[in-house]
Amino acid sequence: MKKVVVTGGLGFIGSNLIEYLIGKNYFVINIDKSSYSANPYNLKHFKKKKYSFYKIDIGNKKKLYQILKKYRPIGIFNLAAETHVDRSIDDSKNFIKSNIIGVYNILEVLRKIKKEKKINIKLLHVSTDEVYGDLKSSQNASESFNYNPSSPYSASKASADQLIKAYIRTYGIKSTIVNSCNNYGPNQFPEKFIPKIIFNLLNNKSIPVYGKGNNLREWIYVKDNCEALYKIFKKGKIGENYNVGTGIRLRNIDLVKLILSIAKKNNISLRNKNKILYVKDRPGHDKRYALNSNKIKTKLGWKHKTSLKKGLSHTIEWYLKNKKFFDKISNRDFTKRLGLKI
Ligand SMILES: NC(=O)c1ccc[n+]([C@@H]2O[C@H](COP(=O)([O-])OP(=O)(O)OC[C@H]3O[C@@H](n4cnc5c(N)ncnc54)[C@H](O)[C@@H]3O)[C@@H](O)[C@H]2O)c1
Repeated sequence: MKKVVVTGGLGFIGSNLIEYLIGKNYFVINIDKSSYSANPYNLKHFKKKKYSFYKIDIGNKKKLYQILKKYRPIGIFNLAAETHVDRSIDDSKNFIKSNIIGVYNILEVLRKIKKEKKINIKLLHVSTDEVYGDLKSSQNASESFNYNPSSPYSASKASADQLIKAYIRTYGIKSTIVNSCNNYGPNQFPEKFIPKIIFNLLNNKSIPVYGKGNNLREWIYVKDNCEALYKIFKKGKIGENYNVGTGIRLRNIDLVKLILSIAKKNNISLRNKNKILYVKDRPGHDKRYALNSNKIKTKLGWKHKTSLKKGLSHTIEWYLKNKKFFDKISNRDFTKRLGLKI
């Protein structure tokens, strides 16, 4: 059985990816430091025979090296990161540590293993569409678009991408970078927009919308993203970036309205406090992200499968059926407004 490492596998995309890879008959080694956005509930269905877990920070070079030496995986999917823009605005220290220095550590360990053991482990690094920055209405960012990050979060992701490119060129590290658009689906920590809307709907709370709700995002159902990550891992070219987008773009306010209408169809009756509440905007809030994803479509034959309505329906159903997901994190403060301390 082929082995792969997934970092950040207790989080949202990582846990969905592990399920996908186990389904493809891989043995998965999950490395996660178990931070606030990790949820042990996300692990519940993994078959122990095909899976092992290490509670480790990717900043721990020694442990990382030992694990890679022990398992000799064919690849690493790096998803370990600090991920919430609002938190990066309040304090970017952990973003620099995990998203830049963490990636530097992985690269250094790969370099050491390559030199000492003569094995060149492939690194699939998961980056974001946010590195391209705020786009004009006429622009869609292709892989050759300049990086122009706006938040400490996107700047930390952009820095890591540049470092990886330097290690590919200088040390011959085998790596490919993926720039995914906004994911949604099961297992997502409810500080993020869509699970927060669902959580608030289920708990008779208002639905906060930043500014006027005009910010536009591109959305992908997480299972489709996992399929794309796997395809890029198998067939993507070393040294290149691949955008993973759907072209499904809408303003935040329209997304909220769509979720409210789908919730009603799923027999979630709205209660008195379930009202849209416009709140103070995030500083530096990017207006528009939009990817040109022609490369992955034409070169790798990948296209998303899930429509927004279908994906949102599945997501709402999942949160309804898995209320224990929220119980595991109920003592954590994800309801407090962050990202206003400037
Ligand atoms: N969610 C999205 O919409 C989206 C879009 C594009 C790219 N991405 C990228 O995908 C990756 C995963 O995002 P997510 O939404 O699943 O995030 P998440 O916050 O749900 O999960 C991140 C996981 O990484 C772990 N982690 C953080 N720092 C670590 C460290 N130093 N060492 C070990 N583990 C650490 C956390 O414990 C957590 O389990 C991130 O790199 C993110 O930048 C996410």
